[in-house]
Amino acid sequence: MALTPGVPIATGGSGWSRESELQVEEPVFRPDDTIRRNWNASVPIVIDGSGRSRESEHQINEPAFRPDDTIGRSQNTGIAAWTAALGAIPDAVWPRLLDLLDTTERDRAARFVFERHRRQHIAAHALKRLMLSAVGGAPPRSWTFEAVAGGKPRVGPGPGPHFNISHCDGLVACAISDDLELGVDVEPVGRKAPLHLARTYFAPEEERWLASLPAAEQPLGFFRLWTLKEAYIKATGLGLAQPLHDFAFAFDPLRVLFHDPTLGDPRLWRFEQRLVGEHLLALAWRGDGRSRSVDFREVSLETLLSDASIGV
Ligand SMILES: CC(C)(COP(=O)(O)OP(=O)(O)OC[C@H]1O[C@@H](n2cnc3c(N)ncnc32)[C@H](O)[C@@H]1OP(=O)(O)O)[C@@H](O)C(=O)NCCC(=O)NCCS
Repeated sequence: MALTPGVPIATGGSGWSRESELQVEEPVFRPDDTIRRNWNASVPIVIDGSGRSRESEHQINEPAFRPDDTIGRSQNTGIAAWTAALGAIPDAVWPRLLDLLDTTERDRAARFVFERHRRQHIAAHALKRLMLSAVGGAPPRSWTFEAVAGGKPRVGPGPGPHFNISHCDGLVACAISDDLELGVDVEPVGRKAPLHLARTYFAPEEERWLASLPAAEQPLGFFRLWTLKEAYIKATGLGLAQPLHDFAFAFDPLRVLFHDPTLGDPRLWRFEQRLVGEHLLALAWRGDGRSRSVDFREVSLETLLSDASIGV
């Protein structure tokens, strides 16, 4: 939920107040603008350094991850990245989502000052449980979790699918894989981008790439870099303990470059990015050389709740 405007949010150690930073008058990317016309929600698009868009080179429309398939019984090599729009959840559904959460998750939900943060939390953790059940077979309430060093939550104790969640105003996301660590980030993009933060958070070549874009495309460029960097540090599990200048994203094709050789082989890393309505999603995982399919879906939590195969 990084960069949410207008609300004081714990910065997770980043040391800046998102509320005050976002008051700066800067160009706003509107998904209805030019880039959106080229950005078909069902097709992954890469926007290159010139701001032009084209279809992604990644083979992600291979056989999809099918939760009602045999997943859980035999290892699935797909990745699922599902999003749920908060505005589409009827009032009557919220108690049913809350009912899926365990005591820890409910206690956290009760502590939010703002209702919209409470709803983001409930929806993200309900989506996580419903997806885990779709792929892992166990009922949604039965999953237990633990945090590994760095704070990244995982299924445990014991083995389970890998997952990562992200929540922001209006949208929650969850990504799941049987065998790969992954990270996901979502951000609303129809708002001012705090471009002046580029120097603090982006590597020098990222900053230069951003500055090279036409002014009207810089807000989206900013959010592209931001979500990719977030997805990467969430995939590694290090979060903000990972120095943000030690790695840099480049486009056309989309890839990461490492300045710190201890980070390993950057060519193993895979990234996907796409618009979901007025939000931008980035997904990161470290590949193992095998071809992976990504099942991107915009799901309804109400529909998932009534899916008999999930067993709520
Ligand atoms: C905590 C952090 C990992 C993600 O924070 P975020 O982008 O504000 O929040 P998101 O909604 O995308 O993700 C939050 C979820 O990530 C998961 N998470 C927490 N720590 C994590 C870690 N070390 N690694 C991976 N995932 C983590 C949790 O499930 C968390 O949700 P929960 O607290 O409800 O369980 C970290 O990147 C952060 O604090 N970022 C702040 C923003 C920032 O400065 N970004 C710089 C990018 S250039």
